[in-house]
Amino acid sequence: MRKKRHPMPPKYEGMHPESLMMSYGYVPAWSEGSVKPPIFQTSTFAFQSAEEGKEFFQWAYGLKEKDPDKPMGLIYSRLNNPDLEILEERLKLWDEAEESAVFSSGMSAISTSLLSLVPIGEAVVFSRPIYGGTDLLLETILPERGIVTREFRARSEPEVVDAICQELKDAGTPARVIFLETPANPTMCMTDIEGMAEVAHRHEALCLVDNTFMGPLYQQPLKHGADLVVYSATKYLGGHSDLVAGVALGSCELIEQVKLYRTILGTMLEPFSAWLLMRSLETAKLRITCSRKNAEKVAAWLAEQPRIEKVHFPGMPDTPRQKEIYEKQCTGPGGMVAFDLKDAGEKEAFRFLNNIKLAKLAVSLGGTESLVEHPATMTHADVPVEEQEAIGITPALVRLSVGIEHPDDLISCLSYALEQIDVEEDDEVETTVASVDEESK
Ligand SMILES: Cc1ncc(COP(=O)(O)O)c(C=O)c1O
Repeated sequence: MRKKRHPMPPKYEGMHPESLMMSYGYVPAWSEGSVKPPIFQTSTFAFQSAEEGKEFFQWAYGLKEKDPDKPMGLIYSRLNNPDLEILEERLKLWDEAEESAVFSSGMSAISTSLLSLVPIGEAVVFSRPIYGGTDLLLETILPERGIVTREFRARSEPEVVDAICQELKDAGTPARVIFLETPANPTMCMTDIEGMAEVAHRHEALCLVDNTFMGPLYQQPLKHGADLVVYSATKYLGGHSDLVAGVALGSCELIEQVKLYRTILGTMLEPFSAWLLMRSLETAKLRITCSRKNAEKVAAWLAEQPRIEKVHFPGMPDTPRQKEIYEKQCTGPGGMVAFDLKDAGEKEAFRFLNNIKLAKLAVSLGGTESLVEHPATMTHADVPVEEQEAIGITPALVRLSVGIEHPDDLISCLSYALEQIDVEEDDEVETTVASVDEESK
């Protein structure tokens, strides 16, 4: 007998999320004693009676107030599914959220949330730089559909955003959401969540934070006043670069509103990826902690290298204000590091990237393997060059997602690639031929 939305059983009270990731929200007796939740690979669910079916639909479509003592029944996997529900229960724990909703991707979590929260003619104010897909959504797609959008630089102080919100109000297009990505992708600069949430609330808007880069272990925006947190669960939560998923977390009231749009837009996650994500969450603490420790070592090493101009890493804030923000809202620096190569343009950066051996040259982040990419020509290629320059995405900038390999191996991989930047092209051909000969032996 499946019961949902019960309060946390007393036996779990006060326990840490990592202790609950293997058990919370699921009882083996629901599934023949299976210790792990099965994959409920079904599109639809049988009702025990026509009366029950009627009641479930009345609750689902808000036609009748739901009886709080009865569990919401299963109807159809676009509305609900046990794997999604158990996963949602577990995801709430890291961020201490009241409610959560899982999506088919980070972008569907972001777009569904914004569409459900911002009426046509009202505005989203967003920090830049921001993930390329979100940038396109905010710069082009939402404005084409009548939603007003205004940007601010990621390092801006709350007063700057306050003034933007006032202008929007005076123009009759009030801000409904202040959208932050902090640390920002790819430059890692941090924005004050608490300060921006205060501005949002002063203007009767909501503060939405994309917490993908830092992940839930080292930053919990709801605790700093944010109203909604979104993740690309493709990254740290999934953690193995083998699924695409998204999450939104917040109050029951907000998530209910977002879930209505999820049902109608059909942007929910499917059961197999939900099951895979549950498996990933069991090791989230271990993986994310290991990536963070490796990133600290790699960042410190990079900062000492003569071929590196600057390291961008939350644990190495470059101004007193960035340090203050870091200390206020982060409990660790995470596993993402970006760096500018010294005296380098695209050619030198590509030579570096083409000589990376252990890490993979690929976009995305937060997986067990290290991934390295070139934001100016890859993840942020759609940002106009002048805008790229203004926000610090130069041809010399490289983004590294640090995985769980041995840190010494990662450092030697980076060291080799740095050395290769200055190898003349003729030498490079010889080196390549030599290594092909070596491999074919
Ligand atoms: C910070 C951030 N937010 C959102 C997304 C979008 O997530 P997804 O690819 O799962 O749709 C990404 C993807 O790289 C990201 O880096």
